[in-house]
Amino acid sequence: MASSDQPADPQCLVVDIHTHMYPPPYINLLKSRTTVPYIRAFADDPAGLRLVILPGEDSPANPSTSRGRPVGPEYWDVAQKIAFMDRHHIRTSVLSLANPWLDFVDDEAAAVEMAVRVNDWFEETCARYAGRLYAFAVLPMKAGVAAIQAEIQRLKGLQWIRGVVMGTTGRGDGLDDPGFLRVWQTLAETSTITFLHPHYGLPSDLYGLQNANYGHVLPLALGFPLETTIAITRMILAGVFSDLPDLKVLIAHSGGALPFLAGRIQSCIEHDSHLKKAGHKPINILEILSRNIYLDAVIYSDIGLRTATQAVPQGRVLFGTDHPFFPPLEGESKWPSVQTNVDAILKGLETSDAHRVLGTNAIELLNLTT
Ligand code: URA
Ligand code: ZN
Repeated sequence: MASSDQPADPQCLVVDIHTHMYPPPYINLLKSRTTVPYIRAFADDPAGLRLVILPGEDSPANPSTSRGRPVGPEYWDVAQKIAFMDRHHIRTSVLSLANPWLDFVDDEAAAVEMAVRVNDWFEETCARYAGRLYAFAVLPMKAGVAAIQAEIQRLKGLQWIRGVVMGTTGRGDGLDDPGFLRVWQTLAETSTITFLHPHYGLPSDLYGLQNANYGHVLPLALGFPLETTIAITRMILAGVFSDLPDLKVLIAHSGGALPFLAGRIQSCIEHDSHLKKAGHKPINILEILSRNIYLDAVIYSDIGLRTATQAVPQGRVLFGTDHPFFPPLEGESKWPSVQTNVDAILKGLETSDAHRVLGTNAIELLNLTT
C-alpha cells in the first residue's frame, strides 16, 4: 500500500498502546532531584526544562547527552495528548508512565504512595476522556513483593487501567529473579497484562570512545532494544513462561531483537551442555511467542514490522507511537515518528491486517470501548 498521511480507510479506528505521560506529582518528584533521574533548567536557558533520566546521561565526559532532552507540557498536560491524538487521527490511547517509572524510589512507603498517586491520576484522567484514554499502571518496584502484589490487586478495582508498565530490572535483580516469580504469579492470576519497556540500555563502554560524538543514538537505537531482548530471554531461561502459561507480556519496540533472534536463542539453548546436565526443563521459544507474547509496532520500518507480525500469531501486534519522545523536527507540526510507524504498517501488511494492527487488536486484547 502507498504511504499516506493517515490510515487509508477512515473507518479504521487507530489505537495507540505505546504513549507516555509524566503526571504532575511525578514531574514534581523529578524536579526535586539533583541526581539522575531529574528535570532541571540550565543557566544559559532558564526557561528550557531538560529531562535527564538515562543512566550516565549527565556525565561531563559526554557533552552530547549531558543536558538530557527537552521536556515540556506535552509530557504532563492531557490537553496536549488529546490534541496530538486528534492531529494524528488516533481515536484511543493507552497511556503509561514513561521511564524510569518508580525504579529509583527505594523507600518503601514513598514508592507505594507515589504508585497510588500516579495510578489514581491516570484513573481520574482517563475517566474525564471516557473512550479516548485508558492506562497501564505503574508498580512500586522497590517496595517489596507484598506491596507490589497489593497494588496489582488494588488496580483490579479501577475502571480504566488495562495492565501495568514495567522496566527490565524488577526489584533490582531483573525479571528472572526467583523472588520476583511471586509478582509474575499475581500478574498471571489477576490476568494483568505487563507492558515491558526498556530504560537502562547496555554498559556504556560497549559504545566505545567515540560515543561522546554520537548523542543518544547508540543507547536509544540499540541499547534499549537489546536490553529488552536480554530481559525477556532471561525470563524464558528462568522458566517464567513455563511455570505461568497464562502470563501475558506486551513487549515494547516490537520485542527488541527477539523476533529476529528467536531461532538463534532456541538453538543455543538446545546445544548448551550445562543446561542439559542441570536437567533444565525443555524450552520452546516458538510456543512462548505464540502463547505469552504480544508486540507493539513501534519499529519504524516495514521490514521490522513484517518480522514482528510473523513472530507472533495474528492479532498480537499493536500500533504505538512512543509519544512524546522523538518530537517533530523544527518547523514541523506533525510527528514524523508516528507517520513512519503508520507507513510501515500500511506498506508491510495487507489492508485488513494493517487495520487490525492499527486498532482492532488493541480493542480486543485490552477490552477497550472506543
Ligand atoms: N522512548 C521512551 O519511552 N523513553 C525514552 O527515554 C526514549 C524513547
Ligand atoms: Zn516508550
